[in-house]
Amino acid sequence: MPRILMTGASGGIGTSLRKLLPPIYPDLVLSDIKTPADLAPHEKFKAAELSDLAQVEAICEGVDGILHFGGYSVEGSWETILPSNIIGCYNLFEAARRKGVKRVVFASSNHAVGFYPRYHRIGTDVTPRPDGYYGVSKAFGEATGALYADKHGLKVTCLRIGNFGDKPLDHRRLSIWLKPEDMVQLCRIGLEHPDIHFEILYGASNNERSWWDNHRAYELGYRPAGRAEDFVAHAMAEQAKLKPDPVADFYQGGAFCSMGFSGDKSRIVE
Ligand SMILES: NC(=O)c1ccc[n+]([C@@H]2O[C@H](COP(=O)([O-])OP(=O)(O)OC[C@H]3O[C@@H](n4cnc5c(N)ncnc54)[C@H](O)[C@@H]3O)[C@@H](O)[C@H]2O)c1
Repeated sequence: MPRILMTGASGGIGTSLRKLLPPIYPDLVLSDIKTPADLAPHEKFKAAELSDLAQVEAICEGVDGILHFGGYSVEGSWETILPSNIIGCYNLFEAARRKGVKRVVFASSNHAVGFYPRYHRIGTDVTPRPDGYYGVSKAFGEATGALYADKHGLKVTCLRIGNFGDKPLDHRRLSIWLKPEDMVQLCRIGLEHPDIHFEILYGASNNERSWWDNHRAYELGYRPAGRAEDFVAHAMAEQAKLKPDPVADFYQGGAFCSMGFSGDKSRIVE
């Protein structure tokens, strides 16, 4: 039975997957800096600060595969992003190597490529176009994952997650929504598929309005059940409550693109 470590266990995705993963991976070890508020007696939890390599090595002991969801999950200052998402991400891959972990699934983000316009359909092989320091940290994580796969034989899957949740929350998220059960499928591909060496896959459900070519995920057996169009009325009603934002509405990364934007607005096609 493989032992799977899940970092970020107290966060939004971690809390949801703590319920969905145990039937598949009964030997699941949870980690975070914060203990989950509702930790059950049968759950195994080990606290660790990602920016401390010794602590990360300790949680990797005896582990076969890692789901790395821990980190700062929104845009922030460089000083905020650096310890959790740059140093912490390096520590995770390095500790995995030192402890002989075989596979890592890294939670990357659409914000690694957020400055592609929405009219541009992209695959996973495009040049990163991060929309903030957070997006830069995700591009860093993808690059670090590629290094550890090619140089050290770690099997690495980076999931460029769109937006994880029970339903798409607005117009943009009709294109990028990821249903929790579909996330489980992607994690299983990363942890189990025999053909994994290094992969970047989009973490998105079966969304008609998607901007992403996710054919590699389908080749690896991904069959998403979520369909964003089933929630179109709800999403558009929520969208109607938002103020127009020319920069956010033009680029794939949405509001992360317009945050602190002082770039060239003439690039935006109305
Ligand atoms: N939720 C989404 O839609 C989405 C989209 C794209 C990418 N992601 C990525 O997926 C992962 C999980 O997202 P989430 O929504 O659950 O985020 P979240 O913020 O809810 O959870 C992140 C968890 O990481 C922990 N953490 C932060 N810094 C840490 C550190 N230095 N040491 C140890 N633990 C630390 C936090 O305590 C938190 O519980 C993140 O890496 C995020 O960037 C999420």
